[in-house]
Amino acid sequence: MSPKSLTDVFKLNDGFSIPCVGFGTWQTPEGDVAVQAVKDALAAGYRHIDTAFAYYNEKGVGQGIKESGIPREEIFITTKLWNTERGYEKTLASLPQSLKNLGVEYVDLYLIHWPANDKVYDNPVEVNVATWKAMEKLQKDGLVRSIGTSNFLGPHLEQILGVCDVKPAVDQIEFHPGYPQFEAVKFCQERGIQVEAWSPLGCGRVLDDERLKALAAKYGKTVAQLCVRWALQLDVLPLPKSTKAERIQSNAQVFDFEISEEDMKTINELPEFGYSTFSPYELEF
Ligand code: A2P
Repeated sequence: MSPKSLTDVFKLNDGFSIPCVGFGTWQTPEGDVAVQAVKDALAAGYRHIDTAFAYYNEKGVGQGIKESGIPREEIFITTKLWNTERGYEKTLASLPQSLKNLGVEYVDLYLIHWPANDKVYDNPVEVNVATWKAMEKLQKDGLVRSIGTSNFLGPHLEQILGVCDVKPAVDQIEFHPGYPQFEAVKFCQERGIQVEAWSPLGCGRVLDDERLKALAAKYGKTVAQLCVRWALQLDVLPLPKSTKAERIQSNAQVFDFEISEEDMKTINELPEFGYSTFSPYELEF
């Protein structure tokens, strides 16, 4: 697909649609900053906001949405289940807290933030499956529209795909030039799971790269715009974060240029750099 504006959508495997660029809020401070950032994003035309219980800014995000004056149903809201709340019962109990924080009756997308792994659990597969079963129940109960995962790689997704009634609609992973995780992207795309990119700007770490600067200059664009566009051209949904109105606007101005096949290949093949070092296999929480 070749999206033409912020409100163009990717179709999810459950029939719902998701606006093709989301506004990221990881590390956006709770309170006035979160409220203002979300209002700035909505004013700039974003209609998809990504938060998480563990970002501790759900209240500000919800407040920003309310103060924007845009009807809630016109905004796609994602939040995520935090790691301490894994398992069937705790998952069921956790979403209502996020809904309360956000001040909404449902979220458009609910994600398991990180897979359970064997650094923390004796039975991580069982935990992931139980958590997923609760996600299915929340969907059935109408509290969430779509359900998915975050930071799940192929082997984690296989744990769920083997036993689920509803397959994940989305998987959100770290994805940016220098760390595109193409193996996981291919795994998802072959199975109809929409990939979302967290830290599409490498959390700022890739923005000073001279190779990317040279490519961006060729198109008269910033490196941030190049990163967002590059993700879109690979059918990956970028979630750029900023707290500055000017950057929020500029990061979304990605529909008036196209990265050539040759330049896509150059970016795809950059050696690893800018990696967060957050591995779902190694994380101890
Ligand atoms: P700030 O919030 O101060 O603008 P990512 O989306 O990959 O997680 O990257 C977010 C980081 O990149 C934040 O530190 C953000 O800082 C910074 N950032 C976002 N947009 C831009 C931009 N257009 N130019 C420079 N830095 C940016």
